Amino acid sequence: MRYVRGVFNYRKNHKILFIVILVILLISIVNWMVPRYYDYRQIPTKVYCDKNEIDKQKYLLFPMTAIVFDGGLGNQLFEVFSLLGLAMKLNRTAIFNSDDWILHSKLDLLQEQVPQVAARIISIPIEIAESTRFLYSPACCHYQFASLLSCEQNRFLIIDGQYFQSFKYFSTIESSIRKWLKPPQDEEMFLKKMIRRKDELRYKHCVHIRRGDFTTDSQHAGTDAVFTIRAIDYLYSLHPGLIYLFSNDPEWVRKRIAEQLDYHGDVKIMETPKDAAIKDLYFSQVHCDSVLITAPSSTFGWWIGYMSKNQSNVYYRDIQETEDMVKYQMLEEDFFPRTWKKLGMSRNGLIITK
Ligand SMILES: *[C@@H]1O[C@H](CO)[C@@H](O)[C@H](O)[C@H]1NC(C)=O
Ligand SMILES: *[C@@H]1O[C@H](CO)[C@@H](O)[C@H](O)[C@H]1NC(C)=O
Repeated sequence: MRYVRGVFNYRKNHKILFIVILVILLISIVNWMVPRYYDYRQIPTKVYCDKNEIDKQKYLLFPMTAIVFDGGLGNQLFEVFSLLGLAMKLNRTAIFNSDDWILHSKLDLLQEQVPQVAARIISIPIEIAESTRFLYSPACCHYQFASLLSCEQNRFLIIDGQYFQSFKYFSTIESSIRKWLKPPQDEEMFLKKMIRRKDELRYKHCVHIRRGDFTTDSQHAGTDAVFTIRAIDYLYSLHPGLIYLFSNDPEWVRKRIAEQLDYHGDVKIMETPKDAAIKDLYFSQVHCDSVLITAPSSTFGWWIGYMSKNQSNVYYRDIQETEDMVKYQMLEEDFFPRTWKKLGMSRNGLIITK
């Protein structure tokens, strides 16, 4: 605005000002409505190793892709626990980037289902001038730890990657994880009441079956009925007992699995609603004596196994025998704990442990 003519053009200037404000307002409304992903590329990627430990609070964060892009509970747990596990290894505090609005609009799943875990990670704004980004691109299920990161002294360290689907990231905090995921007391009482008294002492097999998205996304392979029936027969012959079937497609499970088994009376289909997935993990801790994972790249199946009572009795289908594309990027020893057992099927339908 030109001051000299200010008085003379008072009305006209007002009008221009009004239009400018309106345009700015419109732009900010549009900006606000279109989701904007936090741009980590603005953070320099120079990792510098300084052996002189600087005594100040240091932070670790991930872009949290599984949360930002609406991954399921299994994927989110891998990401969050890997963040907490790596933070421990690096002597840093795990944080969420509080400038990432999308991330914060999508924390409900974590906050509602595993509040104890969500509460462990605070949100802090990051200072770009005090941040270093480490580009990290191994495939979904590889464990990779760059020891160089241990001597990076910058206040904020961003490990710019995704998946983090290996138990090796959080093996040092395993007992804490088991504590955080324990069912609350009322849930535990409810779970105990679910089992009739005559069944209390019977051996309980839990079977995870994944259909739905896994059969159509051209990445994963869904559960195969023939393998599943044979494998359940195999486990039942080792330990007669009860069979609990967990899945995201109970109708398919009823027709293609449950009704095909000779011991119907011992088979139960669990119908946990999708927004209460954590309840299956509670069930596993309290009741599952063994777990069978039939879609080997399912992270939720993996968590049912990991939370179950005896880690020597978790069985998973050999991914190499399936059409699951994840087999080309999975490092099996990083994904499946060593005590778990791999099951294959010979051409004539015999189940073999590998
Ligand atoms: C961990 O970081 C703190 C500062 O937050 C420092 O005082 C301590 O010496 C560090 N511990 C190790 C083992 O590096
Ligand atoms: C776990 O299962 C194995 C048999 O597969 C058994 O030998 C072992 O005692 C079990 N461990 C516990 C703690 O029940």
